[in-house]
Amino acid sequence: MVTVRAPATSANLGSGFDVFGVALSRPADVITVERADRTTIEVTGVGAQYIPEDPDSNTVGAVVDALDAPARIHIDKGVRPASGLGSSAASAAGAAVALNELYDRGLSRHELVPVAAEGEAVVSGVAHSDNVAPSILGGFTVTAADGTTAVDADVPLVVCLPDVAVSTRDARRVVPETASMDDLVATVGNAATLAVGMCRSDPDLVGSGMCDPVVTPERARLITGYDDVREAAFDAGATGVTVSGAGPAIIAACHDDRRQAIAASMLDAFAAAGIEARAYQTKIG
Ligand code: HSE
Repeated sequence: MVTVRAPATSANLGSGFDVFGVALSRPADVITVERADRTTIEVTGVGAQYIPEDPDSNTVGAVVDALDAPARIHIDKGVRPASGLGSSAASAAGAAVALNELYDRGLSRHELVPVAAEGEAVVSGVAHSDNVAPSILGGFTVTAADGTTAVDADVPLVVCLPDVAVSTRDARRVVPETASMDDLVATVGNAATLAVGMCRSDPDLVGSGMCDPVVTPERARLITGYDDVREAAFDAGATGVTVSGAGPAIIAACHDDRRQAIAASMLDAFAAAGIEARAYQTKIG
């Protein structure tokens, strides 16, 4: 039997759509696998009632197939589905790491990233790696055509999750098909600033690079109260605020001593918009 803790993640960080991701120190899924003749999946924990246990429909089923590793699998969800915190990716990533060990397949952590990404395709229709990569590798990850680069970074974060669901599939439908050259130049500048900030564990640089004029404005429209919550986070000292992944979670970068105030302000702003939410004071894990 093998048990693995797979962290939640936040993809995009504004300027790095489908490229950037960070592992979060909390919340996390816990995946337990045991060898079996045929695969069964049991799901418990947060939002378990919304997750299919049929291996053909569950994100983990594709990972089992890719590794030819039938197993009795238990997924204890700590990462709520449809949250923007890489819920399906955490399960796929945890299963990939656990099954690789259970069956002694010998794949490296980097080699497991595309395996787990197959699970993402089951849920969102696209095998994007920007959530599974940080869940498997930890830290800040950059996913490009030639693979994933990961660096350790120590940046305090607040993630505020409203009690509404946004599916990644739906959120991908609002992504513009084209962008102007001005917006591309601005995005590259922000992304480069953010990446330098991560290498220096500098919350000011990271925050200033979390801005994107192309995808985030469209995604933000799907989140009731977004503008007010964003402004509240900045007022409380956030260095940058954006949609986490496909949403509806909103992520803020900050200095350590501002986390509590930012979390409280974001919750108040959601409450003023009539929406219950919970906040995680977290950091890159
Ligand atoms: N990059 C993906 C998207 C992440 O934004 O659609 C989904 O969590």
